[in-house]
Amino acid sequence: MADSSDPIALLDSAFRGATAAAFPEIGDSDPLITASKQAALGDFQSNVAMGLSKRVGKPPREVATAIVAKAAAMPELQQIAEPLSDKSIAGPGFINIRLKGEALAALLSAMDTPSLGVPAPDVKETIAVDLCGVNLAKQMHVGHLRATIIGDALARVFERLGHKVIRQNHLGDWGLPIAMVTAKIAADANSGKINLDTLKLDDLDKAYKQAQRECTADEAGLAAVERFQLGPKARAELEEQVRGAKEKLAAAKLTLVKLQSHDPEIYAVWQRIAKITVDECVAVCGRLHATVRAEDTAGESSYSNELAEIVDDLVKRGIAEESDGALVVRLDGPDDLDDRGQKITEPCIVRKSDGGFLYATTDLAGIRRRVRKFGASRLVYAVDARQSLHFQQVFAAARKAGYARKPNGENAPLRHAGFGMVLGEDGRPFKTRSGDNVKLTDLIDEAHQRASAEVNRRSAALPEAERDRIAEVVGVAAIKYADLCNDRMKDYVFSFDRMVAFEGNTGPYLLYAFARINSILRKAQAEKSIDTGPGAPFRKAALHIVQPQEKTLALAILRYPGALKSMADACEPHRLCGFLYDLAGAFSSFYDACPVLAADNESTVLSRLRLCDLTGRVLRDGLTTLGLPVVERM
Ligand code: ARG
Repeated sequence: MADSSDPIALLDSAFRGATAAAFPEIGDSDPLITASKQAALGDFQSNVAMGLSKRVGKPPREVATAIVAKAAAMPELQQIAEPLSDKSIAGPGFINIRLKGEALAALLSAMDTPSLGVPAPDVKETIAVDLCGVNLAKQMHVGHLRATIIGDALARVFERLGHKVIRQNHLGDWGLPIAMVTAKIAADANSGKINLDTLKLDDLDKAYKQAQRECTADEAGLAAVERFQLGPKARAELEEQVRGAKEKLAAAKLTLVKLQSHDPEIYAVWQRIAKITVDECVAVCGRLHATVRAEDTAGESSYSNELAEIVDDLVKRGIAEESDGALVVRLDGPDDLDDRGQKITEPCIVRKSDGGFLYATTDLAGIRRRVRKFGASRLVYAVDARQSLHFQQVFAAARKAGYARKPNGENAPLRHAGFGMVLGEDGRPFKTRSGDNVKLTDLIDEAHQRASAEVNRRSAALPEAERDRIAEVVGVAAIKYADLCNDRMKDYVFSFDRMVAFEGNTGPYLLYAFARINSILRKAQAEKSIDTGPGAPFRKAALHIVQPQEKTLALAILRYPGALKSMADACEPHRLCGFLYDLAGAFSSFYDACPVLAADNESTVLSRLRLCDLTGRVLRDGLTTLGLPVVERM
């Protein structure tokens, strides 16, 4: 039996049961329930008989008759569908099903609660979601967009389903590149070139790139001077560069040691850099309407004291072993498989031959902390798909080490929710004209600006300040929806023109659908004096699901709890996006075909108004769960 109030799931389950009862020899078989091609014949059809015919060696109509006989007697089907009979079978063996309007109305009333039909979870889990993952002294660019908004949407859907979520912003704030920029900033502050108090992330970003350049010796350039005999001047210049770079690198290594031992001066500079980065990151996430707070940040540095101990532990228990001077966890055992059950080709290196720890070592410590200290029962990582091998290695190593083991002895599921790249309209990685990464703040500004043009045109009557607020919301919703509505593993093309359009599968279209429903409710109050305030009686009015468009809308609304669950199970926000788009479409067809305030009797007015209200609440809830801001009117 389906545990859902979604009639499609109920039909699926009932026909699966009927098919198995009619043909026990074939076992479980998909009843192939689809929306009916001809509304005159029914709402849904099962196409199972045609495929089964060969397997059971009977003509399809005969197969259909046998299934219908079993299905007709099922009480759960009798509740939601008109009685089935031989007349339900059409053509070669399609089984037509018509749902009862009263049954849909009853299901809708049952889900019309504050939770919108979403049941409390069987087991309340603690789920750690790794998101955002920016790096110290670097501007957030479009690469962090996906890690932030996909991670936030997943965190929200888990919360919506009643779980406890721990957000973890795994800030890249440790290691040699960080020491390079810290050394540079410390030197510049000492010589009075910069003022630490007024430093901005932009300055840090430039210093980071410069430090990288300054620490990289142009050995190739020097070799070329030799090979092509470019003369003493060129040689002197390059020798100078190489010498300088070597010095800088040596200084950076010294700074790293100081950083690791919390040398007061260097550590203070580093803390200042970290604060500037995190403050700006939190501010940008705020502009994106994504929940990433300072306290959600657990940088790589926060694990630095645990790494030596972890590696010792792994060695002591024979989990890590030496290989060419490095320490590795071999992953060639029968249980060391990736998400798809495939063998993992390379071992996980936990300490380099020079004694340094790696990105993977830190992530092992992260798993251990999330499971043991935070009590997480499930770990999800919204991180670029190009890090897939890294996570498969780390996950397998963590399982081997027992770091993912929950108090009950089972392993917490570890999941890499990877994502593809954001591409420009030329199909190449999205960059500015000059080839730089696109800063997120610039992206949000531009979306806001483009949305302004549209909002000013459409909503000219609203006060300017409100139009600006709407444009801000529309811009952000446009960016986020255009990202979330794609299968996350795929690359997608970033197109302002497409995403800010009010038509098609876009954020603005959904916001507009929501605002339109609110305007119907406002009109009901203003023109028909129907109370639409909180707890108003129309929200308990009898529902009449009569017209085909009312049925379609009811069916769409009833799919909501399933859509949330499906997004959460697969860690795929596009599933909820698809649902909301279908719902908005069903509403639009309903609204075109079924007058609401102008319906010919009071009871129909109230029923339809209640349908509008319920649709609006589902839209708002769904958009909020994706992390999309909404406005009441536009
Ligand atoms: N800072 C990393 C990067 O920019 C992303 C961190 C992802 N999270 C993690 N636990 N490794 O690639």
